[in-house]
Amino acid sequence: MTPLAYLNDHKDKFLDELLDLLRIPSVSADKNFNNEVRNAANFIKDKLISSGVDHAELFETKGHPIVYAEKIIDPSFSTVLVYGHYDVQPADPYELWDHPPFKPIVKNDRIYARGACDDKGQMYMHVKAFETMMATDTLTCNVKFMIEGEEEVGSKNLEAFVKKEKQKLSADVILISDTSIINNDTPSITVGLRGLSYLEVEITGPNKDLHSGVYGGAVANPINILTKLIAEMQDENGRITIPGFYDDVIEYSDRERVEMAQAPFDLNRYKKELDIEEVKGEKGFSTIERVGIRPCLDVNGIWGGYTGPGSKTVLPSKAFAKISTRLVSNQNSDNITQMIIKYFEKKAPKSVKVKVTPHHGGIPAVISTYSTGYKAASRAFEQSWGKKPIPTMEGGSIPIVALFIQELKTEPILMGFGLDSDNIHSPNESYGLFNYFKGIETIAYFYNHFSQISKKNKGYNL
Ligand code: BES
Ligand code: MN
Ligand code: MN
Repeated sequence: MTPLAYLNDHKDKFLDELLDLLRIPSVSADKNFNNEVRNAANFIKDKLISSGVDHAELFETKGHPIVYAEKIIDPSFSTVLVYGHYDVQPADPYELWDHPPFKPIVKNDRIYARGACDDKGQMYMHVKAFETMMATDTLTCNVKFMIEGEEEVGSKNLEAFVKKEKQKLSADVILISDTSIINNDTPSITVGLRGLSYLEVEITGPNKDLHSGVYGGAVANPINILTKLIAEMQDENGRITIPGFYDDVIEYSDRERVEMAQAPFDLNRYKKELDIEEVKGEKGFSTIERVGIRPCLDVNGIWGGYTGPGSKTVLPSKAFAKISTRLVSNQNSDNITQMIIKYFEKKAPKSVKVKVTPHHGGIPAVISTYSTGYKAASRAFEQSWGKKPIPTMEGGSIPIVALFIQELKTEPILMGFGLDSDNIHSPNESYGLFNYFKGIETIAYFYNHFSQISKKNKGYNL
């Protein structure tokens, strides 16, 4: 039986299992869900075992466990290390979902649930591709699975695991499905991910909330000050004003930019999908460039004062904001964090106190189109889609990818199958059935092409 025939015979089973996994609310950011996060880890472990790995185990960390499993068919063959995450973002605000986020439904050929695409749906494709290859006796590489539960909160404990377990994790390529393709008619392979610096700012004015009539106009209002400081972080051309911020940004040549502009992109449709009249960003760059090769700065949350019903005349004591920058190579996350801290400390007036707390960060990653992994992924897409995939730079971050390159000295390949319109991190997240099944098929082809191209299993051909 061919892998494709097996896949076609087992579509219902593959879908039902994913729906079971999506019912487990494995929200890594919220302690109240700790047991559920563990349940998701055990679910993956059990499914890997029933799919035929030699062994699978949970590695305990200071936080959520890491699922590790392997199937070694021949130590002299090439090894694929699969990375993915079973944790999901919080589903808030629940009231904006058309269906409860952890009661998955299939509607119009799409699976709706938190994690449907990011990353349970995409990660589970690998488990089912593995089952397919085992059942049809077509697996041509050794496989190692490393599925973590803390990607959405910065992967700090995975970092320690990777640094410690280099031998165990040795592989010829790291295969990851946690990114997007351009659209379902235009496959693409992600060759760039942005980095990240995330921090929280606390501005304190008077030592208590005050009557805004008795004191207003005479005492600094921390919300007024915070919003001004934030507004001044960007100029009218959409450039970030922090001194030194662009020093390490790699500029692309005109030729590279012309090449990038070949990727299909429909600006009108983009605006329509988001209900916006105009896009906005750094002057002189296209939308694709603004997301792929340029850094940016966004406020992710801001609060303080009175936000309850009606009104309250208060001059608040404190104001808070969560701020993140997305970075491109060669920007260094720690340096950028220091620059932002300095910006607030230097620019805030004496009438308030400033406290800046760094959260997680991440280094940007760039992947070569000349690697064996890229070639194998490209051929796999050509086989399943009938089209050669286009290399793209994506705006999101997977901080652990740069660490894989640095510590494991192994090339990652970002073979994702999501769409920008899948609403990841938003209400009504979904994943197309087409993408789920086509992804499983393409992953199975990847192994075959990888083993053919890589030197180790020369001559081994299906
Ligand atoms: N899968 C995403 C990253 C992504 C999405 C890359 C779409 C490319 C296209 C990942 O789960 C994610 O959300 N990462 C976080 C990083 C973080 C919380 C440290 C992000 O990008 O905000
Ligand atoms: Mn993800
Ligand atoms: Mn995510």
